[in-house]
Amino acid sequence: MDVVISPTPVSAASQAGAKVAEAIANNPRLVLGVATGSSPLGIYEYVRREIEENGLDVSGITCFALDEYVGLPEDHPESYHRVVAATVTEPWGLKPEQVHVPAGNTGNPRQAALDYDQAIKDAGGVDLQIVGIGGNGHIGFNEPGSSLGSRTRVKTLHPRTREDNARFFDGDMNAVPIHCVTQGIGTILDAGSVVMIASGEAKADAIAKMVEGAVSSNCPASALQLHPHVFVYIDDAAAADLQHRDYYDFAVANADKLPGA
Ligand code: GLP
Repeated sequence: MDVVISPTPVSAASQAGAKVAEAIANNPRLVLGVATGSSPLGIYEYVRREIEENGLDVSGITCFALDEYVGLPEDHPESYHRVVAATVTEPWGLKPEQVHVPAGNTGNPRQAALDYDQAIKDAGGVDLQIVGIGGNGHIGFNEPGSSLGSRTRVKTLHPRTREDNARFFDGDMNAVPIHCVTQGIGTILDAGSVVMIASGEAKADAIAKMVEGAVSSNCPASALQLHPHVFVYIDDAAAADLQHRDYYDFAVANADKLPGA
C-alpha cells in the first residue's frame, strides 16, 4: 500500500482528489467506484472544482456506488441513491444514467445484489474504487466476519455501524435500516486500483489494523493488503496508531528519487 499522511483532513482529501481527477483525465471513459460517508466529500469537491475551473471532462465516465440500505425509498434523504445524487451526480453534472447504485428498495434485494455484481462486470469492471473505512474496519458495508471473497450481496448491519450512522437519522439508531446491499470484498478487490480516504482519531485503530494488521475478516479493510494498487490518504490523527509511520513518510519524501519517476 502507498500510505500518504497529510497534516489535515483537507490536505488528505486534496491529495486523494488529485489522484482521482488524474485518473479521469487519463481515461475519459473511466469506471469509477464511489463511496458514501463523510470521508470522500473532499474528493468530490476537488473533482467538482477541476470540472468547473479546469474543464475536466466527466461526460464519458460511469460510476458505481458501493452500497445501499435495504428498505429506504430512493428519494429518502439518507438513501445512498439520494446521497450519491447530491454529492456526485448533481455537482459533477453527470446524467443519471451514468451513475449506478444498488437497488435496496425492492421486494428481492438478493436478486438486486446479483444483478448489480453483473452490471459492474458488464461495464468492464471498476477501474478506480474510492473507499472510506468504518470505525470497525468495514469497507462498503462489509462488516467484521465478511468473507474476503464475497460478491455483492445482502448483509446485516453491525450494531456499531447502526450507532455510527444514527447521526444521519436524528440520532436514532433504531431508525437506521437493519439490512443493506453491498459490493463484496471480492468485488472491491477486482477494481483496477483503490483510493482509501480517512481522517480523525476515530479511524486510527481501523487504519492501523488495515495497513499493518493480519489479513482477517475481523478487519474487512485488511483484505486490501491483497490488492496490488491501493493508495491510502489519511491525516495525522488517523495515522496515530501506525507503527511504521516514519517509513511511509520517508517513502513519500523519496518517491521522486526513483529513476524514471
Ligand atoms: C458507511 C458507508 C461506508 C463508509 C462509512 C464511513 O458505513 N457504507 O462506505 O466508509 O460509512 O463513513 P464516514 O466516512 O462518514 O466515517
